[in-house]
Amino acid sequence: MKALVTYDSKLGNTEQVAQTVADTLGEEGIGQLISVDEADALELEGVDLLVLGGPTQRHGLSRPSGPGLSSSLAGSCAGCS
Ligand SMILES: Cc1cc2nc3c(=O)[nH]c(=O)nc-3n(C[C@H](O)[C@H](O)[C@H](O)COP(=O)(O)O)c2cc1C
Repeated sequence: MKALVTYDSKLGNTEQVAQTVADTLGEEGIGQLISVDEADALELEGVDLLVLGGPTQRHGLSRPSGPGLSSSLAGSCAGCS
């Protein structure tokens, strides 16, 4: 099984949570952590579990700039938008 934890974080809180989730999954040898800043290189082929985290900003999920995550999801994940 392959798990990927992807996060957006402006102040560092979501990053800490994502790190803990990835560390816990990593204890089972299935976790990988990647910031949305690096998401241009996001490779979802073979990923069984995708964990997405982001802070609440302006009453909704943060919307990081850059095309990486959304284009990766659109191209690789049925039902994701
Ligand atoms: C620009 C901005 C907008 C925010 N808007 C909200 C909000 O609408 N509701 C809320 O509960 N918190 C809001 N927050 C607080 C963040 O959700 C909170 O500080 C969060 O822990 C930040 O996560 P991060 O450290 O991963 O960036 C906002 C923070 C920022 C910087």
